[in-house]
Amino acid sequence: MPSPEVRVLPTPAAVAAAAAERVVAAAARTKETFTIALAGGSTPTALYRLLVSKPIDWTRVQVFFGDERCVPPGDPASNYRMACEALLDHVAIPAGNVHRIRGEDPPLVAAATYERELRATTARLDLVLLGMGDNGHTASIFPGLTAVRETERWVVAEEVAEVGMWRVTLTPVAFNAAAEVLFLVAGREKAAMLHRVLDGPRDPAALPAQAIVPLRGPANWLVDAAAAALLAQQ
Ligand code: 6PG
Repeated sequence: MPSPEVRVLPTPAAVAAAAAERVVAAAARTKETFTIALAGGSTPTALYRLLVSKPIDWTRVQVFFGDERCVPPGDPASNYRMACEALLDHVAIPAGNVHRIRGEDPPLVAAATYERELRATTARLDLVLLGMGDNGHTASIFPGLTAVRETERWVVAEEVAEVGMWRVTLTPVAFNAAAEVLFLVAGREKAAMLHRVLDGPRDPAALPAQAIVPLRGPANWLVDAAAAALLAQQ
């Protein structure tokens, strides 16, 4: 299993800038359709804003989401809404190229529908963006729940008591098949967990970010200095 590649940058803004360059390079490397799964949460917002002015041919980009909160698309908690406000509303991407998870539908239906849509578009994602929660979750693969153990399905739904909400999430099966996986982590509140995930013993059930072990190369982590403060190697 290749060790994750970790790059430490001074600030969250530098993480966003480095991530933007990775996205541009990945899109340029991909000859025809470029498939990307966006991350939710707050960390990638700065990246998405930067991507608005980057040289990307959005007509050949197919945008997916790594996870979604089970709320309607206009809800302030919606990952789709965040991505629209920061990025998708500001670039020339055809509406049919944006594949949102239908958070307003019954979660199991939304997951099955999304799995079909994803598989009908691509055999594997070209680039996956992920974040990490301070409890070690990534996308909506939460500690102690079942998504982390999934071996067949690309998309599942489960109720996450910890956040009082159903979530729909891609599984490690889909993430690990991707050509490239890029984690973005920033902030001092992530430092202890980042140290556990990257330096500690392997326990993906408790630390779902450790379940992301791409088949085609190491996972890449862009982290700011505050989040990296406790890492064994800086
Ligand atoms: C979500 C996510 C989630 C997120 C982490 C980090 O929908 O909440 O996709 O996995 O990436 O919780 O979130 P922050 O960037 O807000 O710290």
